Amino acid sequence: MVDKLGDWARTHTCGQLRAEDAGREVLLLGWVHKVRDLGHLVFLDLRDRHGLTQVVFEAEGLRDRAKHLRAEFVLGVRGRVRPRAAEAMNAKMPTGAVEVEATELKLLSEAKVPPFVIADDVAASDELRLRYRYLDLRRPALQANLGLRHRVTMAVRKYFDGQGFWEIETPMLTKSTPEGARDYLVPSRVHPGEFYALPQSPQIFKQILMIAGTDRYFQIVKCFRDEDLRADRQPEFTQIDVEMSFATRELVFATIEPLIKEVFAVIGRDITLPFARMSYAEALARYGSDKPDLRVGMVITDVSGVFTDSTFSVFRDAVAGGGVVRGIVVPGGAAASRKELDTLAEEAKSLGAGGLVWVRRSGEAIQSSALKAAGEGTMRAALDAAGAGAADLLLLASGPADATSKVLGQIRLSVAKSRGWLKTDEFAFTWVTDFPLLEWDGDERRWVAMHHPFTSPVEADMDRLEENPGGVLAQAYDLVLNGSEIGGGSIRIHDTALQRRMFTLLGISDEDAKLRFGFFLESLEYGTPPHGGIALGLDRIVAILAGEPSIRDVIAFPKTAQAVDLMSTAPTPVDARQLRELRLRIEG
Ligand code: AMO
Repeated sequence: MVDKLGDWARTHTCGQLRAEDAGREVLLLGWVHKVRDLGHLVFLDLRDRHGLTQVVFEAEGLRDRAKHLRAEFVLGVRGRVRPRAAEAMNAKMPTGAVEVEATELKLLSEAKVPPFVIADDVAASDELRLRYRYLDLRRPALQANLGLRHRVTMAVRKYFDGQGFWEIETPMLTKSTPEGARDYLVPSRVHPGEFYALPQSPQIFKQILMIAGTDRYFQIVKCFRDEDLRADRQPEFTQIDVEMSFATRELVFATIEPLIKEVFAVIGRDITLPFARMSYAEALARYGSDKPDLRVGMVITDVSGVFTDSTFSVFRDAVAGGGVVRGIVVPGGAAASRKELDTLAEEAKSLGAGGLVWVRRSGEAIQSSALKAAGEGTMRAALDAAGAGAADLLLLASGPADATSKVLGQIRLSVAKSRGWLKTDEFAFTWVTDFPLLEWDGDERRWVAMHHPFTSPVEADMDRLEENPGGVLAQAYDLVLNGSEIGGGSIRIHDTALQRRMFTLLGISDEDAKLRFGFFLESLEYGTPPHGGIALGLDRIVAILAGEPSIRDVIAFPKTAQAVDLMSTAPTPVDARQLRELRLRIEG
């Protein structure tokens, strides 16, 4: 039999009581975390989102009822706060100096035995946790993540409000905006055979808001993308979406950097501004990635010159064939074990490299996996050229420039990870700028937009779009934190003629453009201010703030890598009547 709540109202949360509250009459409401029955006494930890409080049942009747309480039952307890005996104090618990001596108990709800214990260090499978997400969310770590996410969104709203931005909602039932993924479609009942698309981003709407004169827009907004999922990708995720009229890149940076500072202040961290900047070309050459992790050094250096006339044919031929020899220096890596070196070489091969050559000093001598072929003199020269000291390890690869840097970029991260150099409480930001406007899609045999088709080329390149599409730079930028792309944006095309040229370059016919974006192209013709903006990945930012490896841990109800919600079991088939109403038929 459960009791009614009646007029019971809590006086304190389960995380609130302290030594100075001793003597107070209190009323707590929460979940049974743990019961310890000592016979003459029953101790119970009562839990809510705020913490745990120890409750003691001493009086006979109460004690007998308390003996039957089990984990996850929901209770109301009335009682008096008293200091714990010295030996029972728990300094690790904020409420550990006190306990509540119960005088009245209400059992508000019983609970089935949960499929796993509600505690942070419990080993339950991911599947089980996601199926019973409401139980998993009771864990303090996930509660803390949700609380952190809330505080971050509040800081974001406060910041933008202070900067004169308006939060404006854009539609969820809309038309496709290309961001490079597939759309989630929603069939229309009223217009059989027609579909809405859930937004991949509010891109077109936020640009139209600039045309509409709203000047400064932001929105904390859900976006939907049907794409392959990873730890940092969900099919529905949240952007902090921003657009500004009369924006230059500098204005966008000067607006976003202090925002990030405010966001990190939420966890008490003071971020140094301004952020580093590097071009896309530099990021690729030096870090082998357009999202370089700058928590560690190990910059990729080019040592091709050392091998042009060497006896080591693999490297010499690579350079002669227009390729490069590049390397990274692992500080203190000279002591690496054979096993570690072999593993790295295997990894390089699996990434498509011919191999990975290692070189190190051993006193006056040189050791290398290619010592015989290259000779000591050449390898010494390579160490010197790369700036490797006595205790360091040089790792070398050869091949086409970009591919070689990419392999070394991955090796760089593997080394940093395995050596514990990627600290989750260290934050290294950089803007990556000057992206190419277009990239060649070998499968489709056409140019595709590297960001999206509304991104403006740099002014100097506007006249040579058609002449040299691959060489045109975009006014696009990404914000990278610890090797994760936490944001991306651009200055937009605000001129109809240029926008049409862009569509032509992308192989989108006038007719097709009109069909897909006619409303937008038309709006551009009614007085469009130059504008630009950015979208930040809220889930990724909060995951990094929380030190979590996956954005799943900062989303209340995430989906699996197969885009399934294991709790609600979505997606599910729908009944025949619903399909008929929508005039849809499933092909078997
Ligand atoms: P973009 O596609 O770069 O830009 O997205 C902006 C940021 O959103 C985050 N993000 C994701 N997070 C979780 N799961 C996903 N599937 C996912 N996809 C993207 C990333 C990314 O940097 N309209 C443009 C922005 C603009 O130009 O203003 C856009 O959507 O952190």
